Amino acid sequence: MKQSVKLIAGNWKMNGLGASLDEVAVLRRALEAEPATCRVALCPPATLVERLGAAARGSAIEVGGQDCRAEPHGAFTGSVSAAMLKDAGASLVIVGHSERRQEFGENDGLVAAKAEAAVLASLAPIICVGETLEQREAGKAVAVVRDQVMNSLPKAVLGRDFAVAYEPVWAIGTGLTPTLEQIEEVHRAVRAAMLERLGLGSAAAPILYGGSVKPDNARDILAVPEVGGALVGGASLKAADFLPIIRAA
Ligand code: G3P
Repeated sequence: MKQSVKLIAGNWKMNGLGASLDEVAVLRRALEAEPATCRVALCPPATLVERLGAAARGSAIEVGGQDCRAEPHGAFTGSVSAAMLKDAGASLVIVGHSERRQEFGENDGLVAAKAEAAVLASLAPIICVGETLEQREAGKAVAVVRDQVMNSLPKAVLGRDFAVAYEPVWAIGTGLTPTLEQIEEVHRAVRAAMLERLGLGSAAAPILYGGSVKPDNARDILAVPEVGGALVGGASLKAADFLPIIRAA
């Protein structure tokens, strides 16, 4: 990923049925009329990856998964492998989202294994990190996030297409966001940890901000130094909300 080109990725989480593809058609038409200056991706639930890929084919919209298993195949009922997502038309996959870390007990080691599985399947992993409110209030945000970066990024991403997403847990779906100064502080710490872990070869990988990104705050957040894009939840479900965020990049 070139650092100058921002990545705006939408995470639909467990939302979306076939009818939601109408929103993709609206988005597609708008981007055809006025092309984006950033990369644009949508990560629907696994059931829609193939259909969304078909709806976006030939457009600038990339398709991603929301999670993948670290193993390539096997007896893992209910799981999806990176190769399956690739086969269904995905080019990216989110790994280590805080909802998976919290609800499914995923730790940094597992997140790193998933990111490695993603690059092996030629998917670009978006590796998520972020502190809880308790950790921020204890003054530990930077240390926690640095630790997550050091342990969640496998060496295998070096030289590959990948991104890190900083998503403070307390900002997700709450309408709360850190101050621009706090975002800059953590993003600089993420970059420093990436360079320490992976060397200069990781300098171009974008660091996305995620957590209550909306049309009315996107421009300010995306202008913060070291913010290389956004990972958008709720505001990615409707083209009317997602488009202004894409335009802000
Ligand atoms: O992965 C994106 C996400 O966690 C942020 O969600 O709804 O606060 O934009 P939201």
